[in-house]
Amino acid sequence: MTAKIAILPGDGIGPEIVAEAVKVLDCLQQEHGLEVEMETANIGGAAYDESGSPLPPATLALCQAADAVLLGAVGGPQYDGLERDLRPERGLLGLRSELQLFSNLRPAILYPQLANASSLKPEIVSGLDIMIVRELTGGIYFGQPRGIRELDNGERQGYNTLVYAEHEIERIARSAFEVAMKRNKKLCSVDKANVLEVSELWREVMIRVSSEYPEVELSHMYVDNASMQLVKWPKQFDVIVTKNMFGDILSDTAAMLTGSIGMLPSASLDQNGKGMYEPIHGSAPDIAGRNTANPLATILSVAMMLRYSLGQHESAELIEQAVSEVLEQGLRTQDIADGGSSVSTREMGDAVVRALTN
Ligand code: IPM
Ligand code: MG
Repeated sequence: MTAKIAILPGDGIGPEIVAEAVKVLDCLQQEHGLEVEMETANIGGAAYDESGSPLPPATLALCQAADAVLLGAVGGPQYDGLERDLRPERGLLGLRSELQLFSNLRPAILYPQLANASSLKPEIVSGLDIMIVRELTGGIYFGQPRGIRELDNGERQGYNTLVYAEHEIERIARSAFEVAMKRNKKLCSVDKANVLEVSELWREVMIRVSSEYPEVELSHMYVDNASMQLVKWPKQFDVIVTKNMFGDILSDTAAMLTGSIGMLPSASLDQNGKGMYEPIHGSAPDIAGRNTANPLATILSVAMMLRYSLGQHESAELIEQAVSEVLEQGLRTQDIADGGSSVSTREMGDAVVRALTN
């Protein structure tokens, strides 16, 4: 059966990098027998500009009907003044929530060809391969009540709620244990159980679920220490599982360890393996429209999509090999060029397609 992919280019560099990923999908269709149907829709600021909503009903319907979603990026300074519910980020958060994409896989891999791109010493990061499993549809991002209220003395007070029900912790725990089973079987749960009741429950449920995975070694770490350990000796980690907001923060740190956030893909999965795939980096409005952004994270997101949602493992590997090959050839976009000469977004995409064709 032909898989349906919803393509959401979004804002900033989104359209440029997604165009290169679509080239790769086209090439796999023409050269390697992949069968997919792609349909494009607006999200984020682009959708707001067109229809007044960052997540128009037609976009949501397309994503609901699709087997997988490929997203570029959302957001831009021109939207900062909008009411919260109309901001581009709301489109992304709405999709995560509506599609129940609770499990966010964010790998941080150091490509040997890019060992010098990290700001850390090579011996600390060489061979780095970490997977952060971030809970994505709960916690303080979605907890009620939330808002800004007026106190009796007339002063305003902002408030959000950090809540996790047991079933939410259980399902992200299982997802993380499953990931660990396919890797080095080491799972570190990151929490703040010394201060927060919600973390106390999180830890309790993690320990309970661990009895179903006796082969996986489960450890626990407070989030402040985890942020320190990530830069001190990141190779101690295999898989990290954590709450929505801790995962947002730690995954940026982990990505930066590799020195090339422009290289890192991500997957956001529901209970049945349907997923949304996007680069970890954002919309980079400062370089939008210049044909200089790195399309490799988006292209690698397609590889994750083929592997996790479409069961096309061979095509996924072909893409990963092609990316490795262009790096081997010395091709670099500006972000990973280390001051040396660089190629454009389109040239990089074309090079990957060429590597796939040979
Ligand atoms: C991310 C981003 C988003 C988040 C923003 C754009 C809403 O930072 O995917 O990490 O906070 O989850
Ligand atoms: Mg983030």
